[in-house]
Amino acid sequence: MDNFMIRGGRPLNGQAIISGSKNAALPILAATLLTREKCEIKNVPELMDIKSTFELLNYLGKNCFYGYGNFVAEEHAQLKLHAPYDLVRKMRASVLVAGPLLARFRKVRFSLPGGCSIGMRPIDIHLEGFKKLGAQVAYEKGDVILSAKKLKPGKVKFRFPSVGATENLMMCAALIEGATTLENCAREPEIEDLAAALVKMGAAVTGAGTPVIKITGAARLKGLKHTIMPDRVETGTFMLLCAAAGGRIKLLNTAPKTLEALIRAMKKAGVKINTFKDSMEIIAPQGRPRPVSVVTKPHPGFPTDLQAPWMAFMARANGTSEVHEQIFENRFMHAPELIRMGADITVLDRKAVIRGVPHLLGAPVMASDIRAGAAMVVAAASAKGKSVIRRIYHIDRGYEKLEHKLKDLGVDASRVKA
Ligand code: EPZ
Repeated sequence: MDNFMIRGGRPLNGQAIISGSKNAALPILAATLLTREKCEIKNVPELMDIKSTFELLNYLGKNCFYGYGNFVAEEHAQLKLHAPYDLVRKMRASVLVAGPLLARFRKVRFSLPGGCSIGMRPIDIHLEGFKKLGAQVAYEKGDVILSAKKLKPGKVKFRFPSVGATENLMMCAALIEGATTLENCAREPEIEDLAAALVKMGAAVTGAGTPVIKITGAARLKGLKHTIMPDRVETGTFMLLCAAAGGRIKLLNTAPKTLEALIRAMKKAGVKINTFKDSMEIIAPQGRPRPVSVVTKPHPGFPTDLQAPWMAFMARANGTSEVHEQIFENRFMHAPELIRMGADITVLDRKAVIRGVPHLLGAPVMASDIRAGAAMVVAAASAKGKSVIRRIYHIDRGYEKLEHKLKDLGVDASRVKA
């Protein structure tokens, strides 16, 4: 088990190249199950979650190759239609194989994905959508079994704009001839990247990025050549790293327009941000940031995935701010770890009150999920002294080559054996 060791307290100076988006790559890799033709996907980040998806696709019968960010999937055998517990439990996003396999084979069995530290993570919205398109849902020994004599195009209105449910239903509808309408969809940029991939495969998809997506599916879909969009959560994490630790950095190969809510909040806190087409420059405020409260919302609102690093930034604000986490029921696991570093935070249900302190102090802390781990990195870089971050396997699920990029940005960071 590795740890990160970070000596904080010095301003950043440097630049980093943003990797491909984990949350765009996962559904697009699942979409390769929609066709037996060859799919080639570039700018796929080298992450544990991608490796888990790779293992699952290979288990199902795809022949997958991965190297230097390039992913190739071919199909030479009959696919299995059962995603087993041992593979699904490693990563919840495995549920994204359901839509493609149901549409292609009209039957799929997969383990109910467990919850995780940030919440129960049910999949009822996915299942309600599949039923609307003609699927039967059964449960057996912890598995969900979806089957359909014939899937039909139709209208699905999500009770909540679930990212995963929107993606699952888009992929399912892409292989159902006729016009399907999805309403109250998630509007995250990763949805638009998936739509672009499905269009290249031969489906007609309009409205991605808006609440209403229309899909005219095809009887068969073609192979795919696609390049994954930049990771907006990695970008936001490094923006907050600089804002919290001080200094000036450049981020390359990124997409500033996918982070407008974060940019607005950071500018209110006193951070200078210069944006260009595919890069940005961050200049931290002199002294402590102004306190700014945020409420997490579905895109284009403030992203829940940047709530934890945001809290690490606000820990040293010159006043009191609040964070309201409206997406997940248990996403403040980073608060007690920040308190160990000297932060003054009170959590009550889904609201955290952060009373800014002049300094954080390095300490041994623990990552409890991907983004809580990112918050530890942000806090450790801004804290005086040395921090050791344990359980960084959580961080490795979502951040590619993190210690190298931290060094490129001027952070005194290293990966050490526990
Ligand atoms: C995606 O998860 C992301 N993961 C998450 O990023 C992100 O936090 C989340 O969207 C919200 O933006 C990937 O894209 C792989 P949801 P997903 O379905 O699709 C409830 C990270 O750190 N819900 O939009 O699982 C659910 O419990 C990860 O990279 C239901 O109740 O998110 C949650 O409270 C963490 N029933 C809320 O909706 C359902 O059927 C949002 O979930 C589905 C979801």
